[in-house]
Amino acid sequence: MSETILITGAAGQLGQRVIHHLLETYKVPVANLIAASRDTAKLAALAAKGVQTRKADFDDAASLEAAFKGVDRVLIISTDALAVPGQRLKQHTTAVNAAVKSGVKHIAYTSMPSPDKSLVTFAPDHLGTENAVKASGLPYTIIRNAWYLDNYMHSMPHNLQGGSWYTASGDGKVPNISRDDCALGAAAALASGTADSATYTLTGSQSLSADEIAATIASSVGKPLSAVKVSDEQLLQGLLGAGLPDFVATMLVSADANIRAGNFDQVTDDFTKLTGKQPQTLEDFFVANKAALTA
Ligand SMILES: NC(=O)c1ccc[n+]([C@@H]2O[C@H](COP(=O)([O-])OP(=O)(O)OC[C@H]3O[C@@H](n4cnc5c(N)ncnc54)[C@H](OP(=O)(O)O)[C@@H]3O)[C@@H](O)[C@H]2O)c1
Repeated sequence: MSETILITGAAGQLGQRVIHHLLETYKVPVANLIAASRDTAKLAALAAKGVQTRKADFDDAASLEAAFKGVDRVLIISTDALAVPGQRLKQHTTAVNAAVKSGVKHIAYTSMPSPDKSLVTFAPDHLGTENAVKASGLPYTIIRNAWYLDNYMHSMPHNLQGGSWYTASGDGKVPNISRDDCALGAAAALASGTADSATYTLTGSQSLSADEIAATIASSVGKPLSAVKVSDEQLLQGLLGAGLPDFVATMLVSADANIRAGNFDQVTDDFTKLTGKQPQTLEDFFVANKAALTA
């Protein structure tokens, strides 16, 4: 394959792993890869490996158009700009328009499961971007990533100290997948060279409730952990009391409400279809991260 592939957000956690898998797992020639960031200094390690680096800022259309010149396939990794409502959708739409103007032949985009049926505060960003990608007229690959297992690494070390995980997800279930598996799935889709349009939802192989996830964490790290069911309002006050910014606390509560409503409860085999592999299990993930969880 001699296509040129550009990854935005390439210095981010997902972007770095997508590039790793393109190079190491799918053996894409380094000369075919371009890594983009707002700050190319953050891409020094990739540049040292021979990956071309370009500056691309989603708040600056001209920078995107310049970055996308000569690119065949672009992966638009959704940004983390959640603080200002509407900003992220505007950024993504700018990126899609820039891809069209610059002659990109295929757009890939990292979305979320069922953004059309979701209580999560940022779901409209993903739905709006998916619609913009489809309206671009270019062939596309939409990769809907389920809630990362890695998200638990923020709160579980603290939760394990007290043995309680306060959650508003009730008995709802969620099919978590690791960030690295999402990167592997995206790399597989990019490396396939497909000319077709498709939407994939990358999930783990099991959808589990908070009780089941807590039990898996407890047995994996050898410490007790119980899921304590609270209301949305109780969780919100707890998160605000812990010092989280309003928009983060509100987003986390909305994610729990979405799980409780059953909207995340969908297991697919899209990861296996793309990669030929099974997603990492919860147990394997938590055992691998035992030191950080119990530090
Ligand atoms: N499914 C899930 O559970 C889950 C969890 C967390 C996040 N996400 C989503 O997945 C994305 C990737 O995850 P991650 O773990 O890699 O997050 P991350 O490490 O925070 O990376 C976010 C990336 O967004 C880029 N970005 C932000 N604003 C930008 C702008 N104005 N122009 C260009 N790039 C911009 C950053 O690139 P530079 O700073 O290099 O410019 C950064 O690389 C996140 O941004 C978020 O949308 C999903």
